[in-house]
Amino acid sequence: MSKVALITGINGQDGSYLTELLVEKGYEVWGILKRNSVSENQTARIPDKLFKQINLEYADMTDMSSLIRVLQKCKPDEIYNLAAQSHVKISFDQPIYTTDSIAMGTLNLLEAIRLTCPEAKMYQASSSEMFGNNIDDDGYQRETTPLNPVSPYGCAKVFGYNICRNYRNAYGLFISNGILFNHESPRRGTNFVTNKVVKEAVRIKLGLTNQLALGNLDASRDWGHAKDYVHAMWLMLQHNHPDDFVCSTGVSHTVKDLVEYVFGKLDLDWNEHVTQDEKYYRSEELRFLKGDCSKAEKELGWKHSYTFETMLDEMIEYWLKKYRVG
Ligand code: GDD
Repeated sequence: MSKVALITGINGQDGSYLTELLVEKGYEVWGILKRNSVSENQTARIPDKLFKQINLEYADMTDMSSLIRVLQKCKPDEIYNLAAQSHVKISFDQPIYTTDSIAMGTLNLLEAIRLTCPEAKMYQASSSEMFGNNIDDDGYQRETTPLNPVSPYGCAKVFGYNICRNYRNAYGLFISNGILFNHESPRRGTNFVTNKVVKEAVRIKLGLTNQLALGNLDASRDWGHAKDYVHAMWLMLQHNHPDDFVCSTGVSHTVKDLVEYVFGKLDLDWNEHVTQDEKYYRSEELRFLKGDCSKAEKELGWKHSYTFETMLDEMIEYWLKKYRVG
């Protein structure tokens, strides 16, 4: 009999790649969708070919009754909690909703699992944003680095991380935290910096626009590809015990490096097009991320396959094709 997986946030970047992976592995996949007035937006990232193979239900992380209803209906073996208000800058504008969806949302899900399906395994989408500006002496962040969040999003994720550890220890539930560093793809929202830069640089190349306004160019991130990272999520739930794992590439680039690479690939001089605008700065900035994923490599056998460059090349190709085809 095939295993049953439930994905919260199935329509997000990670949810859509994870769905593809699990369907390919023969899982019966269920997902919850947050109601949106434009119904196409609720399923925009799920490839057409998958629709007939998956089961979608309306539910919301802030509504525990809806989570219980779905858990009772699908009886999952594995639950991947990916739902969130996931934009760090927007978390300063909507701190309460962000915290409700992430912190209380995770607690709602944990209680719903404890009451209805305590045997199920759960993956929690924790984040490198939880480290804030803490860096170990060797320049990396890892599972043992103290958490020091610098955004409402990061604070809410710390609660989610801790409450998952608490439920794991207190109730013996199989819950693993993936501490994922930034991960991108052509499916990334275009208000995150990688896909914003790639999309706008392509538009500049094609003469559709001329300027790109960004915020802090000095911030540095460890960027990997979402496809590699959803594989790590799955591996965590196949492991013989629940635990917490960093997923990263171990390489950090500044936003300026990103801009230089993308514009350079398109034979453009970024200095002629990129401006800086206060409105894209954060009230408090996380300055530097570089992850040490040796624990995941050693214990899960996980390895990332994309580099910063191959990931950006794929994104550039995607946008060129999209605009050329029309
Ligand atoms: N979004 C955005 N837009 N960011 C900009 C811009 C801009 O115009 N200009 C500069 N940046 C800088 C931000 O200040 C930040 O330092 C960096 O680019 C990356 O920003 P995002 O792409 O928005 O990602 P993030 O690092 O804040 O958060 C992402 O990664 C986390 C993991 O550390 C999100 O995916 C989170 O959900 C995730 O947990």
